[in-house]
Parts: sequence; C-alpha cells; structure tokens
Amino acid sequence: MLNRLGGQLPIAAQEGKLPTFVRNPVPEPEMQVTSSTNWPFDIRPLSAHLGAELIGVDLVQGVDDVLFRAIYAAFLKHQVLLFGTQQLPPGRQVEFARRFGEVQIHVMNQYHADGYPELYRLSNLDENGIPTGKHPDRGTLAWHTDGSWQRVTGQATILYAEVATSEGGETHFCDMYGAYERLSPAWKTRIANLRAVHNLNFSRTRRHGEDPMTEAQRRERPPVDHPIVRTHPETGRKCIFLGDHAEYIQGMDYEEGRALIEELNAMAVHADLTYAHRWSPGQLILWDNRCVMHRATEYDPATQRRVIRRCTVLGEVPH
Ligand SMILES: [Fe+2]
Repeated sequence: MLNRLGGQLPIAAQEGKLPTFVRNPVPEPEMQVTSSTNWPFDIRPLSAHLGAELIGVDLVQGVDDVLFRAIYAAFLKHQVLLFGTQQLPPGRQVEFARRFGEVQIHVMNQYHADGYPELYRLSNLDENGIPTGKHPDRGTLAWHTDGSWQRVTGQATILYAEVATSEGGETHFCDMYGAYERLSPAWKTRIANLRAVHNLNFSRTRRHGEDPMTEAQRRERPPVDHPIVRTHPETGRKCIFLGDHAEYIQGMDYEEGRALIEELNAMAVHADLTYAHRWSPGQLILWDNRCVMHRATEYDPATQRRVIRRCTVLGEVPH
C-alpha cells in the first residue's frame, strides 16, 4: 500500500496502527562472527541490517587509542554496538563516554546517578532494591533520538544495564539512513527543506505528565529547530531526524505540522531496519543518535527490576 506521496507504508502503518516490534531478522550466514582486517576484536552482526556485537573488548581495563579508533570505526559503520557482559563501574562508563566527546549533563537533574552528573539513572527500585511500581521515565517508550531538544544534539548514547528485567524493558533501534532511503522521491522533495521544532517539555507532558519540568528547567531548555532531513557529519549520508521530541514544523500550521510529524515518525520505523535488544545485566550498548532512533518497551514496574545507567555524548548542530 502506498501513502499519499507514493511511498511504501510500513505494514503496521498500513493497518492503521503504530509500527510494532518484529523480532530481529536473522543475519545471513556470511554475516556471522568475523575478525575484521585491523580491528582488535571480533564482530558479530546483531541483525541483518544494523548493530554489531564486539567480542573481546574489556572496557573495565580502559580503552587505548588503537582500540578506541577501531571502536569508533565500528560505531560509524554499524550504528549500534553491543559490548559483552562486564562489571563496569560508573566512573569507567563516564570515562569511556568522554573518549567520544563532551558528555551531556542532563537538565533533569533528579536522575543524576552515583555522584556522577554525567550519568542518568533509570531505575524502578527503591533504596532497598524493591520495585516501586513506578516507571522512571515513560517518555523513553516512544521512538526518539536523545538530546534532539537541544541545539547541539546527542552524538553517542551509552547504556549500561546494572539490573535487567526477565520480561519487557527491551531497547529497540531503527536505522534512519534506511528510513530516508525508503521514502519516495515525492516525500524526499516535500521534506527537503522543512525544519521541525523539538521540545522536551512537549514530549514529556504529552506522554505522561509525571515529574514535570520546573520553570527553571524549561527556561534552560527552550524549543529548538532542526532539519527533518539531516546529513550525518561524518559519513555524509542523509537520514531522517525526527522522533517524539519533534512538536511542530516551522512556517506550517501547527496541526498540519503535527500530522506530518506523526506520519513521518510512523513511516520511519520499519521492522527489518530495527534491532530489538533484550538486556542481560552487565551489558553495554552504544549507538549513534544522529542516524538511529530508539525506544524502550514496556515492563511491569511493580514486579520487574530494571536499572539502566545512561550517558549521552554531545555531538554537533544538525545540518
Ligand atoms: Fe533515549
């Protein structure tokens, strides 16, 4: 089925529903574990389209320049990287993040963790490790890109699982290069010069209304506009840059812009461009916010236990 500009709609959108998760496509046999030419680790694709596991990288020991260059090359190529189980202290996570660039100090300072303002802790446990029944941030359940509500947006995000659920609480990633490439020529022309206004207060209020931003936090993070079609500053490839923080479109009637954003957000997510990750404790995932959207999935915060430490590295002003 085609949408009104001749683009192929994802199956879920054809059925009038939000895109839904489909388990990861299986990588082709030739995509199994490989030793890449000069990389000091083996690599295993996580799905047929994006994501790779780096095998044999011990982040606890620290990352020297040779290793970091290889990780960075893999990051640009695979967009989402998984590191095997390790007991990574908070300071080591921040240290690793700093290799990528300046680390964001999140405006929602109630989430700062372990004495590190660079870490944002998503936990449903109380101080005794008992589930509170309260989800720590329901805004993460919608597809988004971290920090798109800032002028300088997020480059890498690094998640580390201290405690993982046995059911639900997955993280899903979708390739926005592929999403752009699948747009029809008419859609590409239509959105080529449009800019969306991203607003953290909008997305939080709309999704849950819990822990509203204070007036000072809102003042600190006013809405900002970004191109809907972004050129990745390092790969030079075009991708869709939108997600749940996008509120309206500059120069367009508010409701018309809202409808366009909703349509594009739905069109951007394709099951076969998505990798779905089920967490184990001690795993770390790193991804490129400039060309990937992500979301968490629901879990029962009254019975499940989930503690994730997040660190986001600042990138650049999108163009
Ligand atoms: Fe996020």
